[in-house]
Amino acid sequence: MLLLLRTLGREMRIFYSKESDGEDYEVEIVEEEPEFLRGYGKGNQEIEPVKVVKNPDGSMAQAALMQSALSKERREAKIQAQREKDAERNSGLRSNSTRILDPMQERELGNDEDRGPMRRDKDMPEWMKHVTAGGKATYGRRTNLSMKEQRESLPIFSLKKALLQAMTDNQILVVIGETGSGKTTQITQYAVEAGFARKGRIGCTQPRRVAAMSVAKRVAEEFGAKLGQEVGYTIRFEDCTSQDTIIKYMTDGMLLRECLVDPDLMSYSLIMLDEAHERTIHTDVLFGLLKAAAKKRPDLKLIITSATLDAVKFSEYFFEAPIFTIPGRTFPVEILYTREPETDYLDAAHITVMQIHLTEPPGDILVFLTGQEEIDTSCEVLYERMKALGPDVPELIILPVYGALPSEMQTRIFDPAPPGKRKVVIATNIAETSLTIDGIYYVVDPGFVKQKIYNPKSGMDSLVVTPISQAAAKQRAGRAGRTGPGKCYRLYTERAYRDEMLPTPVPEIQRTNLASTLLQLKAMGINNLIDFDFMDAPPLDSMITALHQLHTLSALDGDGLLTKLGRRMAEFPLEPSLAKLLIMSVELGCSDEVLTIVSMLSVQNVFYRPKEKQEQADQKKAKFHQPEGDHMTLLAVYNSWKHHHFSQPWCFENYVQIRTLKRAQDIRKQLLGIMDRHKLDLVSCGRDVQRIQKAICSGFFKNAAKRDPQDGYRTLVDGQNVFIHPSSALFQNQPEWVVYHELVMTTKEYMREVTAIDPRWLVEFAPSFFKMGDSTKLSAFKKNQKIDPLFDKYADANAWRITRVKKKIYNPNR
Ligand SMILES: Nc1ncnc2c1ncn2[C@@H]1O[C@H](COP(=O)(O)OP(=O)(O)O)[C@@H](O)[C@H]1O
Ligand SMILES: [Mg+2]
Repeated sequence: MLLLLRTLGREMRIFYSKESDGEDYEVEIVEEEPEFLRGYGKGNQEIEPVKVVKNPDGSMAQAALMQSALSKERREAKIQAQREKDAERNSGLRSNSTRILDPMQERELGNDEDRGPMRRDKDMPEWMKHVTAGGKATYGRRTNLSMKEQRESLPIFSLKKALLQAMTDNQILVVIGETGSGKTTQITQYAVEAGFARKGRIGCTQPRRVAAMSVAKRVAEEFGAKLGQEVGYTIRFEDCTSQDTIIKYMTDGMLLRECLVDPDLMSYSLIMLDEAHERTIHTDVLFGLLKAAAKKRPDLKLIITSATLDAVKFSEYFFEAPIFTIPGRTFPVEILYTREPETDYLDAAHITVMQIHLTEPPGDILVFLTGQEEIDTSCEVLYERMKALGPDVPELIILPVYGALPSEMQTRIFDPAPPGKRKVVIATNIAETSLTIDGIYYVVDPGFVKQKIYNPKSGMDSLVVTPISQAAAKQRAGRAGRTGPGKCYRLYTERAYRDEMLPTPVPEIQRTNLASTLLQLKAMGINNLIDFDFMDAPPLDSMITALHQLHTLSALDGDGLLTKLGRRMAEFPLEPSLAKLLIMSVELGCSDEVLTIVSMLSVQNVFYRPKEKQEQADQKKAKFHQPEGDHMTLLAVYNSWKHHHFSQPWCFENYVQIRTLKRAQDIRKQLLGIMDRHKLDLVSCGRDVQRIQKAICSGFFKNAAKRDPQDGYRTLVDGQNVFIHPSSALFQNQPEWVVYHELVMTTKEYMREVTAIDPRWLVEFAPSFFKMGDSTKLSAFKKNQKIDPLFDKYADANAWRITRVKKKIYNPNR
């Protein structure tokens, strides 16, 4: 074992201990810092949370907290209602069946990744059925114009010659223009027409995968090509391009990956960094890399598209590149504020939509909400309210838009409403700039967005609802003025706009976990990260935390240099701990199994649990349960599916989502390809499943938790009280020590995907993170168990001993 680990480029100290029953075993966190971070502190503890809210005590911050409390209440009410219904149905039937309540079912994923459309028809809520193909809703014709006429009617068309001239004369160009003016769909095609594609591909990045796919599809249509031929797209785990692809849309994260193998991006002649103002972490890193590449390659053309506000900043950063403006066709938008702050913005949004529909002249409505749960709830509420009004009011077509939208609905959002009817599109901020929906006259803007924010306490990012920036508010309002004069209903006060919104959003790089990004930069040979040419450098503290994390994962050695293991980890489009788990599994002789587990962890919602058949579904699921935990259960599901020749009827019978499994199968293939390239063998451990548990430990040791004598578990890192979810394979036997994949806050802080471990493995596989506890002293963990006073500078030190008030909602902005 030691030898094998050495081959990974890092010598690991391995601790052995005599057998003990695990109960008394104490594990402590190593306090010493690695050589290269000495003097910087551990990052973790001292970091001040990033300030993403201008006024944490303002009305908007309050409303955000209120809304999260309300949605929790709604969620609980739903569960309760379900529970009562179940109890009624089951009364007298059986007494001790393991009914699973699933508070996680409603949980949300903030990002677009990995949540395929997977609703089955039967399971679809009524409002959703209504708008999909099989439903009653009808749509108007999109347009009578030919494709050529449509393209020529875009504002950018009249400037085609001037734009191409500017592209010829300049290596780098900053392009600004109203959303919908044709930047994303047209510039790439113009570049091809002008011959830029002769020496290489035209690449165009998008911050969101849905946008990359949707735009590529549209451009392929316009170009007269089959998607994946001349026009294609690449997103994580999905490459829809070929040898012939000359226009390639991709997520910014994918171009960043390409920089790993091809730092000068030799296969491209032109790269368009689209939506640069979104300032995703990937785009921000690409700024620095592309700037360097452009210096080296005078033949590489760069186009940066941005909102007007940031254009000068981008130009200055990119060697004073000229700014090319596409004048938009915009109409005035009347801005309306609320007089008083709204406490329940969701309810206010519903009322506003109904008011507009019943009193305002024709024109479609666009509502901005923060995520799938809010959007689905709103669709349902609006549908019910409309139904209650009876058949005499004009029809309201309700359409949701979010990252993981079922495909049959994705095609619907661009369809105009037929005469006499009105369309309301309820969207996340994806409709702010990435997607343009024509015909919008009314915008309802509650003023919130869900953002990834680094939580220094857990060392992870969490999704938090925060007030939007003034720039975003303006952009949202602008959506109402594309087709004619419009109205924007801001569900906040003018004062809140002025005093509680930051002028521009905080770039992602300044508010999220940097581990994965820094690992990639290290792998590109960029060692001195402090001096990297960031447009806005991330806070030093969060860099240190990330470097620390990479060190504990053995991706960096004591001097901060990339290890062989780290180099390999960077090759995988996975977060560092998953990549480590996969690579370690080769050494541990269980990569065949772990590859499947990692693929299954990369998708969501494997199990299908329709409302009417929860009991059957739970029984079927229980058959897959493995005593070691949920990771093994996922493996069992996949293997069983494979054993049944990847059959659909088998999925149906076992309440398993075939689309999710197919996606896991795709991901598995992709990862296997990368493993092959790096000569990482596929080995099976047969029945020796302990190897798998060890591998999981080697990647997720940071997520270790020990059973709390009182209630649930306590995490080792910070003593947080967490719980095994009732649906987990380990819910019944609650082992002493576990590691989890991630925490999901619904009604409680639940651990998702839990596996039992032996605490000795923590020390064995993460010696720079854990050490054996000194049995003569009270360990930090034990201390944590006993007391956890909240720091309160206004109270005297022992005041907490009388009443212990635990703050329920973690607000990182305080
Ligand atoms: N998937 C689509 N279906 C129908 N029309 C689309 C689609 N995508 C884009 N369009 C049309 O193309 C126009 C230009 O869009 P786009 O190039 O994305 O503009 P920009 O990038 O400047 O915001 C939009 O106004 C819209 O009418
Ligand atoms: Mg665009």
